[in-house]
Amino acid sequence: MRKMPKRVLVVFGTRPEAIKMAPVIQALRSSPDLFRVTVAVTAQHREMLDQVLSLFDVIPDYDLDIMQEGQTLFEVTTRSLVGLERVLKEIRPDIVLVQGDTTTTFVAALGAFYFQIPVGHVEAGLRTGDRYAPFPEEINRHLTGVLAEIHFAPTARARAALLREGVDPESVYVTGNTVIDALHQVVRADYAFREPAVAEAVKSGHRLILVTTHRRENWGEPLTNAYRALKRAVYHHPDAAIVFPVHKNPRVRQTAAAVFARCPRIYLTEPLPYGEFANLMAKSHLVVTDSGGLQEEAPALGKPVLVLREVTERPEALAAGTVALVGTEEERVFTSVSRLLTCTEAYRRMATAVNPYGDGKAANRISAALVHYFNLGPRPDDFNPAGET
Ligand code: UD1
Ligand code: UDP
Repeated sequence: MRKMPKRVLVVFGTRPEAIKMAPVIQALRSSPDLFRVTVAVTAQHREMLDQVLSLFDVIPDYDLDIMQEGQTLFEVTTRSLVGLERVLKEIRPDIVLVQGDTTTTFVAALGAFYFQIPVGHVEAGLRTGDRYAPFPEEINRHLTGVLAEIHFAPTARARAALLREGVDPESVYVTGNTVIDALHQVVRADYAFREPAVAEAVKSGHRLILVTTHRRENWGEPLTNAYRALKRAVYHHPDAAIVFPVHKNPRVRQTAAAVFARCPRIYLTEPLPYGEFANLMAKSHLVVTDSGGLQEEAPALGKPVLVLREVTERPEALAAGTVALVGTEEERVFTSVSRLLTCTEAYRRMATAVNPYGDGKAANRISAALVHYFNLGPRPDDFNPAGET
C-alpha cells in the first residue's frame, strides 16, 4: 500500500528563524511524496519577517500576527502559545519543526509537547553555559532541547554539548547550519544594490564596517558605549565608513539615533532585505555585531567579526580566529576596531574564509534525517568539515 506523506508543521516567528528555515521548507517541499509541509508563523516580527518570506516565496498557511510595539517576553509567550493551539489542533502534524532560540521557538516546542507531537529542533545544541547571556535565548534553547525528540546539531561541538546533557546520540544528526544554504542562494559577485544609502556607501570606496545590534543584555549603556567607540573609530579613520541597518526594536533605535545623529560617513538604514544585506556583508571590510547569525555568515565570506558580547554560543569561528569577542566597553571596542583598520597583519589573520558552520547542504541533510527518523530510509552521514572520525 502507498504510504501517506508525513505532515510536517514548520513554525517560526522572527527574521533569523525565517532565513534559516526557508532552505528546510524548500528541501522538504522538493519531496512531496514524502512530506506535506504546512507553515505557521507567529509573526513575533512583522516587517523583518515579511522581508524574508517574500524573498524566499514562502506563503504562510497560518499567520498569528502577534507582534506589538515594544512587546514583553510575557506577551510574546502567551500570544504565541494561545494562537498555536488552534493550528496544532487543525493540522495534527506528525512532527513540528522549530529553529534556534527565540521565544517562538520555545513556545512552539511546548505547544507541540502539550499535544504529544514530536518536535525537531533545527540548530540544536548551541550553549554559552551562562543562563543570562544571551537572554533569554540560552534558556530558550535548553528548554527546546528538552522538549525535542530529534536534534539537528549544526556542528560536532553542538552535538557534543547535547550528549553531555544526556541526549540520546541516536536522536542527534549533525547537519551544518542552514544559514549557509541561504547565503549561497543570495550572494552574487555582480549583485546590484537597490537601497540608495547602501549603493552610495559601496560606491564611495570607503572601507565599510557593517554594524548590527539587538541583544537584550546590551540595551541601554552597553549599546551607547559600543556606538560611541564606533563613532570615534570612523572619525579617526577617514577612509572608513559605517553601514548600520538598524533593527526595528525601539530600544535599539532610540540609542542609535541619539549617538549617531548627523555623523559623516555613518549610514543608518532600515533593516535590509536579506539579499541586499548578505551582499553588503560580502563587500564590507569587517563586521561589528552582537547578532548570532552574522557570526556564522561573515566567516564563510572571509570577513573578520568583532562580537559585542563577552560569551558566544558559536565558538567554532572563534577557534578558527576569524571572530573575536570584544564586549561593549568603549575603549576596548575602539581599540579592537582601530587595530583591524591599521594593522594589516592583524586584519589578514582574521580575514580567512572558514566554513565550520556549513557547506550549503544542511537542509538536504535535515530532510534525509527526517526520512531516517520516520523509518523511510538510511541514516545520512554527518556534516564533518574537518574530516574527523
Ligand atoms: C527577537 C528574539 C531574539 C532574536 C531576534 C532576531 C526573543 C525573546 N527575541 O528579539 O532571540 O535574536 O528577534 O532579530 O525571542 N519590531 C518591529 N518590527 C519587526 C520586528 C521587531 O517593529 O519586524 C519591534 C517591535 O516594537 C517589537 C520589538 O521590535 O515589539 C521587539 O521584537 P521581539 O521579537 O520581541 O524582540 P527582538 O529584540 O526583535
Ligand atoms: N539580516 C538581514 N538584514 C539586516 C540585518 C541582518 O537580512 O538588515 C540577516 C543576517 O544576514 C542574518 C540574520 O538577519 O542572517 C540575523 O538576524 P538577527 O541579527 O536579527 O538575529 P540573530 O541571528 O542574532 O538571532
